[in-house]
Amino acid sequence: MAYNERLILISGTAHPELSKAISRSLDLPLANAHVGRFPDGEIDIKIHDDIRGGDVFVIQPTCPPVNENWCELLLLIDTLRRASAGRITTVMPYYGYARKDRKDEGRVPISAKVVANSLVTAGANRVLALDMHAAQIQGFFDIPVDHLYAKPVLLDAARRIDLGNPVVISPDVGGIKMARSWAKSLGADLAIVDKRRISGAEIAVEHVIGEVEGRNVIIIDDMISTGGSITEAARIVRDHGAQKIVIAVSHAVFCGPALERLAACPADRVLITDSIPRREKLPERIEIVSIAPLLARAILNIHRSESVSSLFD
Ligand code: R5P
Repeated sequence: MAYNERLILISGTAHPELSKAISRSLDLPLANAHVGRFPDGEIDIKIHDDIRGGDVFVIQPTCPPVNENWCELLLLIDTLRRASAGRITTVMPYYGYARKDRKDEGRVPISAKVVANSLVTAGANRVLALDMHAAQIQGFFDIPVDHLYAKPVLLDAARRIDLGNPVVISPDVGGIKMARSWAKSLGADLAIVDKRRISGAEIAVEHVIGEVEGRNVIIIDDMISTGGSITEAARIVRDHGAQKIVIAVSHAVFCGPALERLAACPADRVLITDSIPRREKLPERIEIVSIAPLLARAILNIHRSESVSSLFD
Protein backbone atom coordinates (compact mmCIF):
# COMPACT_ATOMS: atom_id res chain seq x y z
CA MET A 1 0.00 0.00 0.00
CA ALA A 2 1.53 3.31 -1.05
CA TYR A 3 1.27 6.04 1.52
CA ASN A 4 3.65 8.86 2.31
CA GLU A 5 5.21 9.90 5.63
CA ARG A 6 2.41 12.35 6.45
CA LEU A 7 0.44 11.20 9.49
CA ILE A 8 -3.06 12.69 9.32
CA LEU A 9 -5.70 12.60 12.06
CA ILE A 10 -9.34 13.21 11.29
CA SER A 11 -12.29 13.12 13.65
CA GLY A 12 -15.92 12.18 13.24
CA THR A 13 -18.48 13.81 15.51
CA ALA A 14 -18.95 10.85 17.89
CA HIS A 15 -16.30 11.92 20.41
CA PRO A 16 -14.51 15.19 19.55
CA GLU A 17 -13.02 15.50 23.07
CA LEU A 18 -11.17 12.19 22.70
CA SER A 19 -9.99 13.12 19.18
CA LYS A 20 -8.62 16.41 20.55
CA ALA A 21 -6.90 14.61 23.42
CA ILE A 22 -5.25 12.20 20.95
CA SER A 23 -4.25 15.16 18.80
CA ARG A 24 -2.68 16.89 21.85
CA SER A 25 -0.82 13.72 22.82
CA LEU A 26 0.64 13.49 19.32
CA ASP A 27 1.16 17.24 19.05
CA LEU A 28 -0.56 17.03 15.68
CA PRO A 29 -3.64 19.08 14.75
CA LEU A 30 -6.76 17.36 13.50
CA ALA A 31 -7.38 17.71 9.76
CA ASN A 32 -9.63 20.57 8.84
CA ALA A 33 -12.94 18.99 7.91
CA HIS A 34 -16.63 19.71 8.10
CA VAL A 35 -18.73 16.83 9.37
CA GLY A 36 -22.30 17.98 9.82
CA ARG A 37 -25.85 17.28 8.80
CA PHE A 38 -28.03 18.44 5.94
CA PRO A 39 -31.40 19.86 6.98
CA ASP A 40 -33.03 16.46 6.42
CA GLY A 41 -30.56 14.73 8.76
CA GLU A 42 -28.35 13.20 6.06
CA ILE A 43 -24.62 13.39 6.75
CA ASP A 44 -22.68 16.23 5.12
CA ILE A 45 -18.88 15.88 4.89
CA LYS A 46 -16.20 18.04 3.33
CA ILE A 47 -12.49 17.64 4.02
CA HIS A 48 -10.76 20.98 3.52
CA ASP A 49 -7.14 19.76 3.76
CA ASP A 50 -5.26 17.94 1.03
CA ILE A 51 -4.81 14.36 2.24
CA ARG A 52 -3.55 12.76 -0.98
CA GLY A 53 -1.16 9.91 -0.25
CA GLY A 54 -1.30 10.50 3.53
CA ASP A 55 -1.42 7.89 6.31
CA VAL A 56 -4.85 8.78 7.63
CA PHE A 57 -6.34 7.76 10.99
CA VAL A 58 -10.06 8.44 11.31
CA ILE A 59 -11.22 8.53 14.94
CA GLN A 60 -14.80 7.49 15.58
CA PRO A 61 -16.15 5.25 18.35
CA THR A 62 -19.41 3.70 17.16
CA CYS A 63 -21.08 4.36 20.49
CA PRO A 64 -24.69 5.54 20.91
CA PRO A 65 -26.23 6.83 18.72
CA VAL A 66 -24.62 3.75 17.18
CA ASN A 67 -26.24 3.80 13.75
CA GLU A 68 -25.57 7.53 13.24
CA ASN A 69 -21.92 7.16 14.25
CA TRP A 70 -21.42 4.02 12.19
CA CYS A 71 -22.93 5.61 9.09
CA GLU A 72 -20.83 8.75 9.57
CA LEU A 73 -17.70 6.60 9.84
CA LEU A 74 -18.54 4.82 6.57
CA LEU A 75 -19.05 8.11 4.77
CA LEU A 76 -15.81 9.51 6.23
CA ILE A 77 -13.90 6.46 4.98
CA ASP A 78 -15.52 6.83 1.55
CA THR A 79 -14.57 10.52 1.48
CA LEU A 80 -10.96 9.70 2.38
CA ARG A 81 -10.74 6.96 -0.24
CA ARG A 82 -12.10 9.23 -2.97
CA ALA A 83 -9.68 11.97 -1.84
CA SER A 84 -6.81 9.52 -2.52
CA ALA A 85 -5.68 8.91 1.05
CA GLY A 86 -2.67 6.58 0.90
CA ARG A 87 -3.84 4.39 3.79
CA ILE A 88 -6.97 4.60 5.94
CA THR A 89 -7.02 3.29 9.50
CA THR A 90 -10.28 3.42 11.40
CA VAL A 91 -9.67 4.14 15.08
CA MET A 92 -12.61 2.69 16.98
CA PRO A 93 -12.18 3.12 20.74
CA TYR A 94 -15.62 1.47 21.02
CA TYR A 95 -16.89 -1.04 18.45
CA GLY A 96 -20.69 -0.92 18.39
CA TYR A 97 -22.60 -4.19 17.81
CA ALA A 98 -19.62 -6.19 19.13
CA ARG A 99 -21.90 -8.21 21.39
CA LYS A 100 -23.82 -9.56 18.39
CA ASP A 101 -20.87 -11.66 17.25
CA ARG A 102 -22.53 -15.05 16.63
CA LYS A 103 -25.78 -16.65 15.57
CA ASP A 104 -26.79 -18.11 18.91
CA GLU A 105 -30.41 -18.66 17.90
CA GLY A 106 -32.35 -18.88 14.63
CA ARG A 107 -33.14 -15.87 12.42
CA VAL A 108 -30.80 -13.30 14.00
CA PRO A 109 -28.02 -11.31 12.31
CA ILE A 110 -24.31 -11.39 13.08
CA SER A 111 -24.18 -7.63 13.31
CA ALA A 112 -20.50 -7.38 14.30
CA LYS A 113 -19.63 -9.08 11.01
CA VAL A 114 -21.86 -6.69 9.04
CA VAL A 115 -20.03 -3.77 10.66
CA ALA A 116 -16.68 -5.33 9.66
CA ASN A 117 -17.83 -5.93 6.07
CA SER A 118 -19.14 -2.39 5.75
CA LEU A 119 -15.89 -0.78 6.94
CA VAL A 120 -13.84 -2.77 4.45
CA THR A 121 -16.29 -2.15 1.60
CA ALA A 122 -16.17 1.59 2.32
CA GLY A 123 -12.37 1.50 1.99
CA ALA A 124 -10.76 0.94 5.40
CA ASN A 125 -7.28 -0.57 5.17
CA ARG A 126 -6.70 -1.19 8.88
CA VAL A 127 -8.59 -1.09 12.15
CA LEU A 128 -7.39 0.03 15.56
CA ALA A 129 -9.86 -1.00 18.25
CA LEU A 130 -10.00 -1.17 22.03
CA ASP A 131 -11.48 -4.02 24.09
CA MET A 132 -13.79 -5.29 21.36
CA HIS A 133 -15.86 -7.51 23.69
CA ALA A 134 -14.66 -10.64 21.88
CA ALA A 135 -11.13 -10.74 20.49
CA GLN A 136 -12.27 -13.12 17.74
CA ILE A 137 -14.10 -10.22 16.03
CA GLN A 138 -10.66 -9.57 14.53
CA GLY A 139 -11.33 -12.65 12.41
CA PHE A 140 -14.30 -10.90 10.77
CA PHE A 141 -11.74 -8.72 8.97
CA ASP A 142 -9.31 -9.71 6.23
CA ILE A 143 -7.37 -6.51 6.86
CA PRO A 144 -4.99 -5.94 9.81
CA VAL A 145 -6.66 -5.24 13.14
CA ASP A 146 -4.72 -3.92 16.11
CA HIS A 147 -6.60 -4.73 19.29
CA LEU A 148 -5.70 -2.61 22.31
CA TYR A 149 -6.69 -3.23 25.91
CA ALA A 150 -7.61 -0.53 28.40
CA LYS A 151 -6.19 -2.72 31.15
CA PRO A 152 -2.86 -0.87 31.57
CA VAL A 153 -4.58 2.49 32.21
CA LEU A 154 -7.31 1.03 34.42
CA LEU A 155 -4.75 -1.02 36.32
CA ASP A 156 -2.70 2.10 37.07
CA ALA A 157 -5.81 3.79 38.47
CA ALA A 158 -6.74 0.68 40.48
CA ARG A 159 -3.24 0.51 41.97
CA ARG A 160 -3.71 4.03 43.34
CA ILE A 161 -6.60 2.75 45.49
CA ASP A 162 -5.58 0.98 48.68
CA LEU A 163 -7.01 -2.51 48.15
CA GLY A 164 -4.36 -4.60 49.91
CA ASN A 165 -4.52 -8.09 48.49
CA PRO A 166 -7.77 -7.96 46.48
CA VAL A 167 -9.80 -10.68 44.78
CA VAL A 168 -10.44 -10.04 41.09
CA ILE A 169 -14.02 -10.81 40.13
CA SER A 170 -15.36 -11.69 36.70
CA PRO A 171 -19.10 -10.85 36.54
CA ASP A 172 -19.70 -13.77 34.14
CA VAL A 173 -17.91 -16.74 32.60
CA GLY A 174 -17.28 -14.78 29.39
CA GLY A 175 -15.07 -12.36 31.28
CA ILE A 176 -12.78 -14.96 32.90
CA LYS A 177 -9.87 -14.43 30.51
CA MET A 178 -9.82 -10.68 31.17
CA ALA A 179 -10.19 -11.15 34.94
CA ARG A 180 -7.45 -13.79 35.00
CA SER A 181 -5.11 -11.40 33.26
CA TRP A 182 -5.87 -8.74 35.92
CA ALA A 183 -5.38 -11.30 38.69
CA LYS A 184 -2.00 -12.21 37.21
CA SER A 185 -0.91 -8.57 37.05
CA LEU A 186 -2.02 -7.92 40.63
CA GLY A 187 -0.87 -11.28 41.98
CA ALA A 188 -4.45 -11.63 43.22
CA ASP A 189 -6.99 -14.44 43.63
CA LEU A 190 -9.86 -14.86 41.18
CA ALA A 191 -13.59 -15.38 41.70
CA ILE A 192 -16.47 -15.66 39.25
CA VAL A 193 -20.10 -14.63 39.44
CA ASP A 194 -22.55 -17.07 37.93
CA LYS A 195 -24.71 -14.79 35.74
CA ARG A 196 -27.74 -15.69 33.65
CA ARG A 197 -29.14 -13.17 31.15
CA ILE A 198 -32.95 -13.00 31.19
CA SER A 199 -33.32 -10.19 28.63
CA GLY A 200 -31.28 -7.30 27.15
CA ALA A 201 -31.70 -5.30 30.36
CA GLU A 202 -32.25 -8.00 32.99
CA ILE A 203 -29.95 -10.58 34.46
CA ALA A 204 -30.00 -12.97 37.39
CA VAL A 205 -27.05 -13.90 39.61
CA GLU A 206 -27.22 -16.59 42.24
CA HIS A 207 -23.71 -17.84 43.05
CA VAL A 208 -20.15 -16.68 43.52
CA ILE A 209 -17.49 -19.25 42.66
CA GLY A 210 -14.50 -18.42 44.86
CA GLU A 211 -13.84 -16.86 48.26
CA VAL A 212 -14.67 -13.18 48.85
CA GLU A 213 -15.62 -13.02 52.52
CA GLY A 214 -13.69 -10.29 54.35
CA ARG A 215 -11.72 -9.42 51.17
CA ASN A 216 -11.50 -6.27 49.07
CA VAL A 217 -12.58 -7.00 45.50
CA ILE A 218 -12.19 -5.52 42.09
CA ILE A 219 -14.87 -6.39 39.54
CA ILE A 220 -13.67 -6.27 35.92
CA ASP A 221 -15.77 -6.08 32.77
CA ASP A 222 -15.45 -4.82 29.22
CA MET A 223 -18.54 -2.63 29.42
CA ILE A 224 -21.39 -1.30 31.49
CA SER A 225 -24.46 -1.07 29.31
CA THR A 226 -27.65 -1.06 31.40
CA GLY A 227 -25.54 -1.75 34.50
CA GLY A 228 -27.35 -4.98 35.39
CA SER A 229 -24.33 -7.30 35.24
CA ILE A 230 -21.89 -5.21 37.20
CA THR A 231 -24.28 -3.98 39.89
CA GLU A 232 -25.68 -7.46 40.50
CA ALA A 233 -22.09 -8.72 40.76
CA ALA A 234 -21.38 -5.98 43.33
CA ARG A 235 -24.51 -6.88 45.26
CA ILE A 236 -23.78 -10.59 45.43
CA VAL A 237 -20.14 -10.19 46.48
CA ARG A 238 -21.25 -7.79 49.24
CA ASP A 239 -23.89 -10.37 50.28
CA HIS A 240 -21.02 -12.87 50.49
CA GLY A 241 -19.05 -10.59 52.81
CA ALA A 242 -16.79 -8.59 50.47
CA GLN A 243 -15.42 -5.38 52.02
CA LYS A 244 -14.24 -2.61 49.70
CA ILE A 245 -15.68 -3.01 46.19
CA VAL A 246 -14.07 -1.41 43.14
CA ILE A 247 -15.44 -1.73 39.61
CA ALA A 248 -13.21 -1.27 36.55
CA VAL A 249 -14.65 -1.29 33.03
CA SER A 250 -13.36 -0.21 29.65
CA HIS A 251 -16.55 1.11 28.06
CA ALA A 252 -19.14 3.16 29.95
CA VAL A 253 -22.09 2.87 27.56
CA PHE A 254 -24.44 3.80 30.42
CA CYS A 255 -27.84 3.35 28.82
CA GLY A 256 -31.30 2.96 30.36
CA PRO A 257 -31.13 2.55 34.14
CA ALA A 258 -27.31 2.25 34.35
CA LEU A 259 -26.65 5.38 36.40
CA GLU A 260 -29.46 4.73 38.88
CA ARG A 261 -28.29 1.14 39.28
CA LEU A 262 -24.73 2.30 39.89
CA ALA A 263 -25.94 4.88 42.40
CA ALA A 264 -27.78 2.17 44.31
CA CYS A 265 -25.06 -0.50 44.20
CA PRO A 266 -22.53 -1.07 46.99
CA ALA A 267 -19.41 -0.17 44.92
CA ASP A 268 -16.98 2.24 46.60
CA ARG A 269 -15.31 3.30 43.37
CA VAL A 270 -16.08 2.87 39.65
CA LEU A 271 -13.23 3.28 37.18
CA ILE A 272 -14.19 3.86 33.55
CA THR A 273 -12.33 5.11 30.47
CA ASP A 274 -13.21 7.92 28.08
CA SER A 275 -13.75 5.57 25.10
CA ILE A 276 -17.34 6.92 25.04
CA PRO A 277 -18.23 10.59 25.60
CA ARG A 278 -20.05 11.50 28.81
CA ARG A 279 -22.55 14.33 28.66
CA GLU A 280 -24.15 13.84 32.09
CA LYS A 281 -22.66 14.84 35.44
CA LEU A 282 -21.25 11.75 37.09
CA PRO A 283 -21.24 10.95 40.80
CA GLU A 284 -17.87 11.51 42.51
CA ARG A 285 -17.11 7.84 43.00
CA ILE A 286 -17.01 7.37 39.22
CA GLU A 287 -13.50 8.17 37.97
CA ILE A 288 -12.68 8.55 34.28
CA VAL A 289 -9.20 7.56 33.12
CA SER A 290 -8.13 8.59 29.65
CA ILE A 291 -7.13 6.15 26.93
CA ALA A 292 -6.02 9.01 24.65
CA PRO A 293 -2.26 8.62 25.36
CA LEU A 294 -2.52 4.86 24.71
CA LEU A 295 -4.37 5.37 21.41
CA ALA A 296 -1.92 8.11 20.42
CA ARG A 297 1.03 5.81 21.07
CA ALA A 298 -0.60 3.01 19.07
CA ILE A 299 -1.29 5.38 16.16
CA LEU A 300 2.35 6.48 16.16
CA ASN A 301 3.63 2.90 16.29
CA ILE A 302 1.36 1.84 13.41
CA HIS A 303 2.51 4.84 11.39
CA ARG A 304 6.16 3.99 12.07
CA SER A 305 5.57 0.24 11.50
CA GLU A 306 6.59 -0.48 15.07
CA SER A 307 5.13 -3.06 17.41
CA VAL A 308 1.73 -2.33 18.98
CA SER A 309 1.70 -5.34 21.30
CA SER A 310 4.87 -3.93 22.91
CA LEU A 311 2.54 -1.33 24.50
CA PHE A 312 1.26 -4.11 26.75
CA ASP A 313 4.58 -5.74 27.70
C1 R5P B 1 -21.44 -9.28 28.61
O1 R5P B 1 -21.01 -10.30 28.12
C2 R5P B 1 -20.63 -8.04 28.74
O2 R5P B 1 -19.30 -8.34 29.04
C3 R5P B 1 -21.19 -7.12 29.81
O3 R5P B 1 -21.15 -7.79 31.05
C4 R5P B 1 -22.61 -6.76 29.52
O4 R5P B 1 -22.78 -6.49 28.17
C5 R5P B 1 -23.02 -5.56 30.33
O5 R5P B 1 -24.36 -5.28 30.04
P1 R5P B 1 -25.32 -4.70 31.17
O6 R5P B 1 -24.59 -3.54 31.79
O7 R5P B 1 -26.55 -4.28 30.41
O8 R5P B 1 -25.58 -5.80 32.13
